[in-house]
Amino acid sequence: MSEDKLMMDRRAFVLSAGLMGASLLAGCGAESEQAAPEPEEKDEHAVADEGEPQTNDVQEENSDSSASKTLVIYYSRADENYADGGVEVLEVGHTKVMAGYIAEALGADQYEIVPAEAYPFSYDKCCDQASDELKKDARPALAGDMPDVSGYDTVFLGCPIWWGSEPMVVRTFLDAVDLSGKTVVPFTTHGGSGLGSVPANLQNRIPGATVVDGKAVAGTAVDGARDEVVDWVTSLDLA
Ligand SMILES: Cc1cc2nc3c(=O)[nH]c(=O)nc-3n(C[C@H](O)[C@H](O)[C@H](O)COP(=O)(O)O)c2cc1C
Repeated sequence: MSEDKLMMDRRAFVLSAGLMGASLLAGCGAESEQAAPEPEEKDEHAVADEGEPQTNDVQEENSDSSASKTLVIYYSRADENYADGGVEVLEVGHTKVMAGYIAEALGADQYEIVPAEAYPFSYDKCCDQASDELKKDARPALAGDMPDVSGYDTVFLGCPIWWGSEPMVVRTFLDAVDLSGKTVVPFTTHGGSGLGSVPANLQNRIPGATVVDGKAVAGTAVDGARDEVVDWVTSLDLA
């Protein structure tokens, strides 16, 4: 995506917010179909653990070693985000909630992609950093060990949509961990862009994987989407 396009989308997003009022939702994204208000200034010192990455060992749930093993990998950001009608501060990111539904439904293991340096608490600052990283095709460093994926046949790969695409930390992960030969199932949470360019990007970046149809849930709807997500997961033919 060109720099001009990013700036144009950013302006369109802010303009729409002004015109359409506080009831609309969106990210700061290139392919967002809706708009959101500008957030009020927040005290960024309010976040005690900013910059302190969480641990990210694989959380093991699979007990039947003969079963086809599934790993749910995700990146998710808590902190300040848009919600219906304004700004909300998330204690748990939307995509992490969705990852939990999937893992619970399948008895799957989970692995969280954790940046070495946390993204800004402020939504606006995070948007700016994400835009900059996308323009530079950056590869932000990750915290912790990468997972051993050799024992998994199917990998669910989830992230929020940032500027219409996956956050660059997901690309860092894909550069580091080879998912060739696996069935990869994308999932996203978003503010209007759905799956964005994530499925196509995953297939391009992992040509040896089979990327199947994914699932997108609006971030603000994720708390009520458990049944919808479980129905989707159980409808997939992942043999
Ligand atoms: C930096 C940034 C960029 C975003 N860009 C988009 C976008 O392009 N399209 C969209 O629909 N939502 C966008 N959003 C909204 C997020 O995709 C949405 O709130 C998501 O549910 C957040 O998930 P998380 O809490 O797991 O990080 C953006 C949010 C952030 C913080």
